[in-house]
Amino acid sequence: MKVLGIETSCDETSAAVVSDGFNVLSSVVLSQAEIHSQYGGVVPEIASRNHVVNLPCVIKRAMESSGVAWTDLDAVAVTNGPGLASSLLVGLSAAKALALRLKRELVCVNHLEAHLYSPFLAMPAGSMAEACPFLALVVSGGHTCLLRVEGLGDYRLLGETMDDAAGEAFDKGAQILGLGYPGGPAIDRESRRGRHDAVDFPRGRVGKHSRPGLPRDRLCFSFSGVKTALLYHVKALGDGAKEVFPDLAASYQEAIVDALVKRTQLALDQERLKCLAVAGGVSLNSRLRERMKALADSNGCRLLLAEPGFCVDNAAMVAGLAGAGGGIRGEGAWLLDACPNLVIGKDLQEPDRA
Ligand code: KG4
Ligand code: ZN
Repeated sequence: MKVLGIETSCDETSAAVVSDGFNVLSSVVLSQAEIHSQYGGVVPEIASRNHVVNLPCVIKRAMESSGVAWTDLDAVAVTNGPGLASSLLVGLSAAKALALRLKRELVCVNHLEAHLYSPFLAMPAGSMAEACPFLALVVSGGHTCLLRVEGLGDYRLLGETMDDAAGEAFDKGAQILGLGYPGGPAIDRESRRGRHDAVDFPRGRVGKHSRPGLPRDRLCFSFSGVKTALLYHVKALGDGAKEVFPDLAASYQEAIVDALVKRTQLALDQERLKCLAVAGGVSLNSRLRERMKALADSNGCRLLLAEPGFCVDNAAMVAGLAGAGGGIRGEGAWLLDACPNLVIGKDLQEPDRA
């Protein structure tokens, strides 16, 4: 099954062709990071306008470099949420138009589910089913959650962030340190020259009682405190702050990574799982990769990470998931609209037993 995937949920305009859910024939990702960096973050209106301008060309390039003829496509898959409403609409409209014109199946994909699937791209068909049940940590610019994965489309939410996402914490931290946008790669780089234990930043413990109806507190995250702590630390240092930026960046990164690793360990223990997948843009972080590898080794656990090119937003994970049988297809897909707040695994969550 050959699927054309389209991804425009945030500031990456991407298209890819994937065969049978794992064989990536082409992947084109056009990042708008440079455009948004002057504003310190993504400006939704500018992002959607750029998607409108660039998407046709990105799709054309993905089709040409895949060597697949339009008539040989079996389906068009697209992210319909979560994400920025105006950006999602561009991809969804293009996918619907193409599927209609080509008389092919339309598949609507949850962006978080696509991230979760990304480690299985370029692995043989059926790899995801073999790994199940497993624990997934999805860490991106907009989301941070722990899921128990029973199978394709069968997810149980174990924990999520109560405020900022891990990627957001990296981006805001980098802004405070004047390191530019996107912040994650900048903090990762700066940290290499600093000490992880220079400053003991808060590890974002969630209070005993979070919002009612949410999963158990001990597997939830909070990253707004660490950001505020960094801000006050920089203010207190005044003019001398710049000299210790590498130490601040490394310690800040360690606080975020530590919070992710500790909750992941708790989730592995609680669910008694022997396979761990880490996905999303933040999974590119070198310290997180190192700590997750150590965590997996000490638990006798298999660690699944996506290839670097498939960690940040990309359409290959969208086409891959659709090719593996995921997403919403048939009549239902045509009725779907852009869904900025689409969730994953919520309906299957356990009641709060804390
Ligand atoms: O998955 P993604 O492309 O977009 C969303 O779905 O939100 O993730 C983007 C996020 C940004 O917050 C970016 O700063 C972060 O991933 N990121 C990193 C690294 N590379 C990207 N965070 C930490 N370390 C990195 N090396
Ligand atoms: Zn993403």
